[in-house]
Amino acid sequence: MQPFDYHPSTRVIYGENSVDRLGEIVRELGGTRVLLVSDPGIVKAGHSNRGVVSLRNAGLEVSVFNQVQENPSTLNVIAGRQFATDHEIDFIVGLGGGSSMDCAKGINFLVSNGGEMKDYWGVGRATKPMLPLIAIPTTAGTGSEAQSFALITDPETHRKMACGDKKAACKVAILDPTLTVTQPREVTADTGIDAIAHALETFVTKRRNPMSLMFSRESWKHLYPNLQKVLNDPKDIEARGHMQVGANLAGAAIENSMLGATHAAANPLTATYGITHGIAVGLMLPHVIRFNGAAVNVEYSQLTRLMGEQTADGTECLAQCVTGLRRICGLPSCLQDAGVEESRLPELAEAATQEWTGTFNPRPLNKSDFLGIYQAAFNGRS
Ligand SMILES: [Fe+2]
Repeated sequence: MQPFDYHPSTRVIYGENSVDRLGEIVRELGGTRVLLVSDPGIVKAGHSNRGVVSLRNAGLEVSVFNQVQENPSTLNVIAGRQFATDHEIDFIVGLGGGSSMDCAKGINFLVSNGGEMKDYWGVGRATKPMLPLIAIPTTAGTGSEAQSFALITDPETHRKMACGDKKAACKVAILDPTLTVTQPREVTADTGIDAIAHALETFVTKRRNPMSLMFSRESWKHLYPNLQKVLNDPKDIEARGHMQVGANLAGAAIENSMLGATHAAANPLTATYGITHGIAVGLMLPHVIRFNGAAVNVEYSQLTRLMGEQTADGTECLAQCVTGLRRICGLPSCLQDAGVEESRLPELAEAATQEWTGTFNPRPLNKSDFLGIYQAAFNGRS
């Protein structure tokens, strides 16, 4: 059994309209001048305003930084730090998708510890205490609210820097399914497949341990039956809730066991072609499952049994299940359809070997293994 150091540091609140409790909770934690980090789409949907109203009703000062972009870069974080300093804030709220929550964490690193984001690339590089932070996801995907990592992109190389520190973990995560019902279908699909990938990758990583397995297994039980439901009926609040809780549990699994080769292969697709994270992950996941089958077929079979499938070939069953979900989501089924050039697969394979997350994959990979996976994904055998 893998050794583990399980240190839950985030209070998790779930409930319809729980975002309206934000002000009360910030007050409880001693905040007075709050930075709310969000993006223009979330502001337009009215979600940021619900947070602002709750904070103001609690007698708190609020400054809204709404300039977060998808896959936030160091430039977003620097602008946010300046904004935060100008407003002398003492508390941070990240309200939005993974980008808003990651940007909020990034701003917290710089406001409380100084320097640049690259100074925190890796684990445990912050030396000073950080400001209290509350995360409120408006998608059911990233699980960033359960993690002490901020993923911040270097605008020159387009690589995502994973900056992790236990001090960056959220004090509270507020899961309110009413915030997820207005998202466009493609966002539900992209983020849903990402959450599914988190559940499946964490279940087999080299660092899996009794705690992470518990989170992975439970997240799969919430996510698998409900992704199709929320696509068919976006207003199914019960199914939305299961997706949000499932994504949160998968995020907790990542915090305790890291990810694997699917994310290592997906990130260069985003860096090179700007392919949305969930789409990139969905393209690679069935092929990585097949690659990993030689090492973890027993584990994959445990997951397929949770789906009610009795088969000795859990690997193929799970790969086909993911392919089916991807089809229902309306996502591209092969790299070719996503605009990837065959001639650049070796370059992508080289980039994938540089991704830290691949080192936790249950079956070790080299460049030629990644190339084989990309080639399988190019035409989409499944
Ligand atoms: Fe992901």
